[in-house]
Amino acid sequence: MAFVRNQWYVAAYSAEVGRALLARIILGEPLVLYRTSAGQPAALADRCVHRHFPLSASQLDGDTIVCGYHGFSYGPDGRCVAVPGQQRIPRTARVSAYPAAEQDSLVWVWIGDPERADPGLIPRAPWLDDAGYTTVRGMEPLAARYELLVDNLLDLSHETYLHGGYIGTPEVADTPISTEIDQEQRVIRVSRRMDNAACPPFYAQSTGIGGRIVRWQDIEYYPPCLYVLHSRVAPAGVLPRPDGTDPDGFHVEVVYAITPSTETSTYDFWAVARDFAPGDTDVSAFLHDSNRTVVLQDVEALNMLERVIAAEPPGTQELSINIDTGGLAARRMLARLAEESACLPAPVP
Ligand code: FES
Ligand SMILES: [Fe+2]
Repeated sequence: MAFVRNQWYVAAYSAEVGRALLARIILGEPLVLYRTSAGQPAALADRCVHRHFPLSASQLDGDTIVCGYHGFSYGPDGRCVAVPGQQRIPRTARVSAYPAAEQDSLVWVWIGDPERADPGLIPRAPWLDDAGYTTVRGMEPLAARYELLVDNLLDLSHETYLHGGYIGTPEVADTPISTEIDQEQRVIRVSRRMDNAACPPFYAQSTGIGGRIVRWQDIEYYPPCLYVLHSRVAPAGVLPRPDGTDPDGFHVEVVYAITPSTETSTYDFWAVARDFAPGDTDVSAFLHDSNRTVVLQDVEALNMLERVIAAEPPGTQELSINIDTGGLAARRMLARLAEESACLPAPVP
């Protein structure tokens, strides 16, 4: 499938973007990221116009990147402001500057026509930057196409088999899902509600619940780039009150930013934000290590799957069942978005 352009994608966590130059490849485009002295994130094409030396391997001087090969210098708008050995700066001496925005502790970049970059279109993950939540996070590179990660996250029945002993129990795979596609808001929702389930170690150890649980998994996927799993666990039988308050429920917002790097590699940004045990460093360390282990189990599986798919003859068929409705809806929406973005007029150089 083609990439979906004219979209915001997470390039980095806010904490990763500072006064050191950071290289990321997004939708096949090499970028260099940094923060200006005024604190604004900047993203430029990571290739000097002169002999294509990577700017990420260069030096920052104030807000200017000085190419590490022969010294062409670029401002945060991509314009070349100095070349060595001559006063005249060639008119074409500039690199592309990508619209960048910071929201919810994430640095987003717009890949596509800069004229269309509206920060109001960035999907939200407010828990990551909310004092009422404690968050652990990470990023694992995936040697697989991003669509495999979308499939993986939209069908959590795999928790039972791939993540048993961490977040999977038999009830996850045994409980049917409901799927809702909101074309207008461009969101896919997949829900699974378990009334009486075993409590997996991920929740038993972090919440202290000893027995069986009510477990809700309410997914929202904002194609192509953001996925949120609203997770609620409570002792079996305990439901939120009719007024919506939920004193006995534990809430976890599991956020994934899915950023295609190349056609067969992906940045898998993951975060777990909780509304209980605030600031408890033991709980944070446990949830960080558990979720990272779970993510690495997915990475290993998807890397293997990528190799299998890459070796298949064209037209090899899959077989889909009820658990795949969310993933199939996501594929259809991504295909439509990719087609629409391919039809948009090319930006004026
Ligand atoms: S390659 Fe950058 S100045 Fe020569
Ligand atoms: Fe998984």
